[in-house]
Amino acid sequence: MTHSLIFDRRVPSLAATAILAGEVADLLRPGDIIALGGTLGAGKTAFARALVRHLAQEEIDVPSPTYNLLLTYDFDDFCLYHYDLYRLETPEEAFELDIDEAFDTGVSLIEWPDRLGKYLPAGHLLIEITSEEGASEEARIIRFYGNASWKQRLTALSGAYDA
Ligand SMILES: Nc1ncnc2c1ncn2[C@@H]1O[C@H](COP(=O)(O)OP(=O)(O)O)[C@@H](O)[C@H]1O
Ligand SMILES: [Mg+2]
Repeated sequence: MTHSLIFDRRVPSLAATAILAGEVADLLRPGDIIALGGTLGAGKTAFARALVRHLAQEEIDVPSPTYNLLLTYDFDDFCLYHYDLYRLETPEEAFELDIDEAFDTGVSLIEWPDRLGKYLPAGHLLIEITSEEGASEEARIIRFYGNASWKQRLTALSGAYDA
């Protein structure tokens, strides 16, 4: 099993989610694939928005790609592909959404990654967001799952949170 829990983090607020997303943003490089897991309303788009804004260094508009399925953002080092695949009918349809190019040269942020079936590359990082039953409205648990390489790359981040 190559995908295992690397660390988890309880965040008390949207602002705390945004800080964590910013730290992830700083680790990204071309070819990275980030699957964003969690049910409707968990905060996948909110996480992606904070990540994109951190890279943009300004509060740019980052809408949910609910209808377009894909929205892209050009940065100096890479193009960021933000997918919401909820409405994808077959995994093959993703190839009409530049998924090859995204995987090879871009950074991919993918909401509803299960829609890709076998086409979701094994080397992705899964960031899963869940609400806490009985906790406050903005409380979330954010779990990171990935291979040994991701574990290595996330060491600084996870170390900070384990402390
Ligand atoms: N800690 C948090 N992290 C992420 N989103 C949060 C948090 N607290 C509250 N929210 C709110 O929850 C909602 C999540 O919606 P969204 O990101 O669109 O969910 P999803 O994309 O998972 O369906 C947003 O209104 C967001 O402001
Ligand atoms: Mg969403």
